[in-house]
Amino acid sequence: MYPGSEIYGGLAGTWDYGPLGLTLKNNIKNSWWKKFVEERDDMYGVDAAILMNAKVWEASGHIAGFSDPLVECKNCRKKFRADHISEGNTETGKLELPKECPECGKFGTWLPESKFNMMFKTNVGPVEDKSFASYLRPETAQGMFVNFKNVMDSFHPRLPFGMAQIGKAFRNEISPRDFLFRAREFEQMEIEYFTRESEWEKIFENFRMEILKWLSDIGLGGGSIHELEVPAEDRAHYSKRTIDFEFDYPFGRKELLGLAYRTDFDLSAHINKSGADLLYYDEETKERFTSHCIEPSFGLDRAILAVLCEAYMEDELGGEARVFLKLKPSIAPVKAAVFPLLKNKPELVNKAREVFTELKKEIRPIVFDDNGNIGKRYRRQDEIGTPYCVTIDFDTLEDDTVTVRDRDTGKQERIKISELISLLKEYIY
Ligand code: GAP
Repeated sequence: MYPGSEIYGGLAGTWDYGPLGLTLKNNIKNSWWKKFVEERDDMYGVDAAILMNAKVWEASGHIAGFSDPLVECKNCRKKFRADHISEGNTETGKLELPKECPECGKFGTWLPESKFNMMFKTNVGPVEDKSFASYLRPETAQGMFVNFKNVMDSFHPRLPFGMAQIGKAFRNEISPRDFLFRAREFEQMEIEYFTRESEWEKIFENFRMEILKWLSDIGLGGGSIHELEVPAEDRAHYSKRTIDFEFDYPFGRKELLGLAYRTDFDLSAHINKSGADLLYYDEETKERFTSHCIEPSFGLDRAILAVLCEAYMEDELGGEARVFLKLKPSIAPVKAAVFPLLKNKPELVNKAREVFTELKKEIRPIVFDDNGNIGKRYRRQDEIGTPYCVTIDFDTLEDDTVTVRDRDTGKQERIKISELISLLKEYIY
């Protein structure tokens, strides 16, 4: 990952994914979509527009309330998110701004606190006018609520059922920080799961378990995930219950994703604002009512950052210090690397190319590398988390076997080429 617009000095809060980062991102995204959409019979995927009618954000409460507390230093004019720099007063227990500005160190220079709306405003069409104002979506969720009727009318799902979406979200964060953790442009993977009010607790609990299973699937099992029951005063305006799933990032224990019971807040708000009929009709009981909603909301970039932090390892192998990424093979950006032992022996290079071509038909992405000594090639793959390296040596020419080296242990086993594909498939998927 690189800073966005890097050659122009960057643009704070934006990040560009390069070839390996993008593949890791796609692997995590696909694993999520497979588990939460494709493997279920009650989920409907959508891909709504990022630009939405401003009335959506009036109804959702984002225009009135999606803001953070902002303070500015009178001396250096630096702006801060008040809750990020405040500390609890030991006597009153209340949060208070520091006496000195963290930027310039000047004493007692705060301007009065204000509210800063985090949505990016833009104009749709050629006229810069209030009536043409729109916003880049700050969450993907609303794209699902506004398509509730479309999915109901086209697919006639029975409750409970869910809608899912993966896509970009934008927030004009006052102080983007900690690499991918707090960005201004990021990606969310969200589910709005609709149910009868009486069933929300059961469904909430079910998603709690499914979330933990998926986190373990991508390598975030173990002790680094913590559940925080969010107290009422800290919950979003729409939520009656929220659990934050936190991860031990190197900069502290922080929110990785959230699970919220949004009640019937959003559908009711859109019914009131748009006048559309977003009620659910139960054919058996002949009742019409507003569905309630459970929302698992995942930040894709925060998941990637957590996966990288969890996978980062340092050890000693063959008497040398090494760094490697202990990524789950299923999400590693490169699944295997193929090496001829020596670059200047055409018989080895040709055989290695042959093995590479056959392997690539079944396992992707894989790489071919004949550059530098074999130890360096192993280390290059260790650093990007490639789980297996396949080496073609002189024995291969005699008995059609290769060595397969395991990233985590550095151990090598000799395998028949005829068994290589099925063995690697078994290890990786
Ligand atoms: N629809 C509910 C919603 O958007 P949220 O807690 O504001 O709830 C959900 O955001 C998730 O989106 C967070 O748990 C986090 O993973 C991710 N997220 C939020 N703001 C972010 C930011 N500035 N940068 C990166 N990820 C962010």
